[in-house]
Amino acid sequence: MNEAWLKVKVWDGWVRLFHWSIVLLVIAQYVTAELSLMAWHFRCGYLVLALLVFRLGWGLVGSDTARFARFLKSPLEALAHLKHLTRREPDTEVGHNAAGGWMVLGLLALLLAQVATGLFANEEPGESYAAHGPFALQVGDALSAGLTELHELGFNLLLVAIGLHVAAVLAYAVLKRHDLVRPMVTGFKQLPASIPAPRLGHPLLAVALLALGLGLAWWLSTQGG
Ligand code: HEM
Repeated sequence: MNEAWLKVKVWDGWVRLFHWSIVLLVIAQYVTAELSLMAWHFRCGYLVLALLVFRLGWGLVGSDTARFARFLKSPLEALAHLKHLTRREPDTEVGHNAAGGWMVLGLLALLLAQVATGLFANEEPGESYAAHGPFALQVGDALSAGLTELHELGFNLLLVAIGLHVAAVLAYAVLKRHDLVRPMVTGFKQLPASIPAPRLGHPLLAVALLALGLGLAWWLSTQGG
């Protein structure tokens, strides 16, 4: 007998808010850097930082599908998963698959590195009047110049990773006929009734983590000068 499929909430609103906000903010970071709108570049950067603090915390105490311990599998499992990329099979994945988990970790690490190097970067290294991160002048010209270069290199690496990420999502659509985007927009997907629905994290915890991230971002924005 065919098993029934049910509509299940796999991505909570917080993860979706995080994801699509990060997409908009990465675009904003590129545009503001290109146009030298540094005040806005900094504001958006602090928002990215606040969202990352939230996401790292939510990865520890949030909904099942957001938790690192749930979606980070061994590299061997990730490779085994990729071997089946061309196999047509029903999508029974509740959250990130074994390979996607590593992609997520890579994207988060690159975003974190951007925020960290940005705090020490200087628009024109060596010039104290140029727009600069809160700690750029404290660390000295040479280190600030090095970290500014890393900030620029890091953005290019991030673009490569985002390209791979979007290509992977497209590959799942074309090769496996799995629509990963709709659940990341609506939160819901169809799953076999035998698969338990993921437990959702407490909204108060999410609000507390967001407040922590925003507080830290605000404090950082008041440092240096
Ligand atoms: C600036 C560009 C982007 C960045 C930095 C980014 C980053 C991320 C991150 C960090 C996650 C993990 C979400 C979490 O667990 O919190 C994720 C998941 C996801 N992203 Fe993106 N993303 C970007 C663009 C896009 C675009 C344009 C699409 C749509 C075509 C997309 C579709 C998805 C989907 C479907 C997932 C869930 C994958 C799964 O089912 O495991 N992303 N993304």
